Amino acid sequence: MKSVLITGANRGIGLEHVRSFAAKGIQVFATARSPSQADELNALAASCAGQITVLQYEALDPDSPTQLKTALGDTPLDLLLANAGAGSGTRESFGDVDVDDVVQLIRINAVAPLKLAEALAGNIARSERKLIAFQSSQLGSIGNNTSGGRYGYRISKAALNMVAKGVSSDLGSRGVIVVALHPGWVKTRMGGAGAPVSVEQCIEGQHRLFDKLTMADSGRFFNYDGTQLPW
Ligand SMILES: NC(=O)c1ccc[n+]([C@@H]2O[C@H](COP(=O)([O-])OP(=O)(O)OC[C@H]3O[C@@H](n4cnc5c(N)ncnc54)[C@H](OP(=O)(O)O)[C@@H]3O)[C@@H](O)[C@H]2O)c1
Repeated sequence: MKSVLITGANRGIGLEHVRSFAAKGIQVFATARSPSQADELNALAASCAGQITVLQYEALDPDSPTQLKTALGDTPLDLLLANAGAGSGTRESFGDVDVDDVVQLIRINAVAPLKLAEALAGNIARSERKLIAFQSSQLGSIGNNTSGGRYGYRISKAALNMVAKGVSSDLGSRGVIVVALHPGWVKTRMGGAGAPVSVEQCIEGQHRLFDKLTMADSGRFFNYDGTQLPW
């Protein structure tokens, strides 16, 4: 890979991906909602001499994907990692679901990544690796849902899984591999301190996966350890 774009790159899983790709000598376009406040990301970029470009991206802003496209021009992108995502809303339990919370999560976690893929499809198709990975969650798996609850987050990630499947069909003829990912339950602000998987373990597993995915894997859902998950 020569270049990647990662959203939600100012902290958590996204930031660690930036660190890891940059360490491999790959050109990284890293997005944050507020670049001027992305202190850790800016410090990392400053230490990498032009290898990391920080760009603004807000999932709730409909103009954000086209602004990214304008900033990139025709630059080929080997990987689009649509990683930015919002966690559970405040009212998610059966009997207390807040409609606005659910709609907001669907916009951030499913519709925004779709619009991003639409805007950047040409950059991906122009690259050698041609890979799009949507950072989903096992909580979006219908097949694995045995406990209910967390309706907003689950619905939004199930919708994202549908986006991944659909985009794999729409871009298949252009040679683009499209997958949905579960990063594990990871120690980040979203995953919490009690999560069993470190960001380093998650990133190592996802990088191994990025290296081995083929067209036969397109339209599938993968855990960070490379095992396939049910939709
Ligand atoms: N950690 C886990 O256990 C776990 C499990 C399953 C799936 N995931 C998924 O993995 C991805 C990364 O999660 P994480 O654990 O690294 O979480 P995190 O530390 O909370 O980071 C979330 C990232 O998404 C960005 N983001 C949130 N809302 C956004 C918006 N409206 N527009 C643009 N960016 C936005 C955040 O930016 P700000 O800093 O500006 O808020 C931040 O960069 C998410 O999609 C999450 O759903 C995580």
